[in-house]
Amino acid sequence: MNLFDVYPLFDITPVKAKDVFVYDENGVEYLDLYGGHAVISIGHSHPEYVCSLSNQLNNIGFYSNSIQNPLQVELASAIETLSGCKDYQLFLCNSGAEANENALKLASFKTGKSKVLAFKNGFHGRTSAAVAATDNAKIIAPINAQQEVELFELGDLKGVEKALAKNDVCAIIIETIQGIGGLDEATTEFLKGLESLSKKHNALLIADEIQCGFGRTGDFFAYQKHGITPDIISMAKGMGNGFPIGGILIHPSIKASYGLLGTTFGGNHLACAASLAVLKVMRCENLMTNAKTVSDYFIEKANTIPQIKAVKGRGLMLGLEFDFSIAALRKDLIFKHHIFTGSAKSPNLLRILPPLTLQKKHVDMFFEALKKAL
Ligand SMILES: Cc1ncc(COP(=O)(O)O)c(C=O)c1O
Repeated sequence: MNLFDVYPLFDITPVKAKDVFVYDENGVEYLDLYGGHAVISIGHSHPEYVCSLSNQLNNIGFYSNSIQNPLQVELASAIETLSGCKDYQLFLCNSGAEANENALKLASFKTGKSKVLAFKNGFHGRTSAAVAATDNAKIIAPINAQQEVELFELGDLKGVEKALAKNDVCAIIIETIQGIGGLDEATTEFLKGLESLSKKHNALLIADEIQCGFGRTGDFFAYQKHGITPDIISMAKGMGNGFPIGGILIHPSIKASYGLLGTTFGGNHLACAASLAVLKVMRCENLMTNAKTVSDYFIEKANTIPQIKAVKGRGLMLGLEFDFSIAALRKDLIFKHHIFTGSAKSPNLLRILPPLTLQKKHVDMFFEALKKAL
């Protein structure tokens, strides 16, 4: 049987990984500044993580959401402590798209309305409402296109207000820092504007923190820098350090009822154990502080390279902007210098999404290689 051929692949086969390094079947070591697309948060195969998942599997790996699972309660409490998001409610699922799909669905249930406002260059996943709110016509199938979505430029508060005035909008969804779209971030003024307009017009504000959340920027959630209170916060990626888990934090003003949302696999024992280990390591190893310190060092070094025209993003979610396409540079970095990096919608942007355990010596390795490659 053939694989359904939807991914253009680099011809590299990782068989082992440790912290910020990945090893192929020939033992070649690669520095991982991509983190499997911003997923690896506490480093590959962290001993605490391996131990926690192995122990859990030896006890109970899975049972459905029809029994008590104290690990879910423990996880909710650990997220509350580390994020400082008081009194939100946690619903667990398995991926980023599912998190946003549930967030949008909940907004529609709560308001009784169905239209979604989203932003140009945004990405929210590939399920029905999430993909319809994504600015990429190529991945929206006719079955998804029936969702009512209107896209705005970041900063277009007047346009958003005009759309809200029609009173058919259930949600505004926004990535606090755009990922694949190219690391643009709305201003505090704009986000505060969205917050007050959504309240005024009975729509919910959804912060998509799937890529920028869970410590990646050095704040637990990237939106926290802006002092807003979203109605729903969606999370995934770094949450499980590679184990598939996603979730939404739901403001206490939104009430639950039996059967409103549901999933078979979401919040299973192994997934909770993975995310609890992530939070424990983030706390014990001060990884959010590390993300900020190493980010500052990275940006300082980037600013000394004349070919880099701008550094975008924050924490360990960064983009290096060149005035040429980075496709060949990225290939050189992988195949000649053995460093994984990421790309973006903009062909000139090289993305850096390493584990939050990255150290200054790894940054030095990258810049040595980058200078040679350039
Ligand atoms: C901001 C954002 N939202 C949603 C998603 C979808 O997540 P998943 O691929 O886990 O469904 C992604 C994935 O890249 C993302 O970056």
